[in-house]
Amino acid sequence: MVSKDRMSQTSVKKLKPKFIAPIQNWLEGWVYRYYERRLNNSVKGGKMPRHIGLILDGNRRWAREAGLEPIHGHEFGFEKLKEVLKWCWELGIDAVTIYALSTENLERPKEEVRQLFNLAEKGFREILENEEIHKNQVRVRALGRLDLLSESLNATIREASERTKGYSKKKLNVAIAYGGRAEIIDATRTIARAVASGKLKLEEIDEKSFSRFLYTEGDEDPDLIIRTSGEERLSGFLLWQSAYSEFYFMDIYWPELRKIDFLRAIRTFQQRQRRFGR
Ligand code: FPP
Ligand code: MG
Repeated sequence: MVSKDRMSQTSVKKLKPKFIAPIQNWLEGWVYRYYERRLNNSVKGGKMPRHIGLILDGNRRWAREAGLEPIHGHEFGFEKLKEVLKWCWELGIDAVTIYALSTENLERPKEEVRQLFNLAEKGFREILENEEIHKNQVRVRALGRLDLLSESLNATIREASERTKGYSKKKLNVAIAYGGRAEIIDATRTIARAVASGKLKLEEIDEKSFSRFLYTEGDEDPDLIIRTSGEERLSGFLLWQSAYSEFYFMDIYWPELRKIDFLRAIRTFQQRQRRFGR
């Protein structure tokens, strides 16, 4: 049975002359661009986060709803990432850390993990060739238990880090085979070894010195962490570093993120009062 709503939609469609649709699309596009430009200008005048963390979530759900295989969701996700990075650099955001793969993600079906490794390898290779990376002088680093990745992915990561290590204007950290607890454990082990060998005194361990043993050594903590897909948790992302970060959760899947959604997140960050517990 056709519902009342569907019936009325059908009759409206019948009444609507064909030429209306293109005009409506054009008008919507124009309104969108106008709003995006206004939002962009207003955000540009405010205080920009220096470091943002991105939890790109919802690729598979997006793919499923579009009738696609999960890997296509990840591929669209990667294309979106390139767009978002461009927005960040245009806005003058200095550092971006993305959650590309968690240690838990490695427990997914073997075929998906293999496809994700291939995509990540393609990603790092594209990073190497991407003129925006060189134009904006972006230093690229991978954070995580890299020994859990394939040898060829590791070789590409080394190449990307090596080629960009001289850059200092912007930072792009890719958290891959990453877990916040694993990071803290790895740091603790290194510290314990340093203490045992006499290189570090027990009294010298404090928050500042501890941070130097994390994968993010030398980076400022993220000011803002954004997660898409409607999930409202960190899932182990930057556990230590996010102690005073602002969080922004979005109810849309990563591949469908629009610039206005991203700009709204920045605007919300600019409206928040950060007191760091003081
Ligand atoms: C989360 O969606 C996304 C991932 C686990 C993978 C994202 C990785 C990339 C886009 C590749 C990036 C590579 C580089 C080198 C930058 P999900 O699979 O958790 O989707 P769901 O929440 O709908 O299940
Ligand atoms: Mg997910």
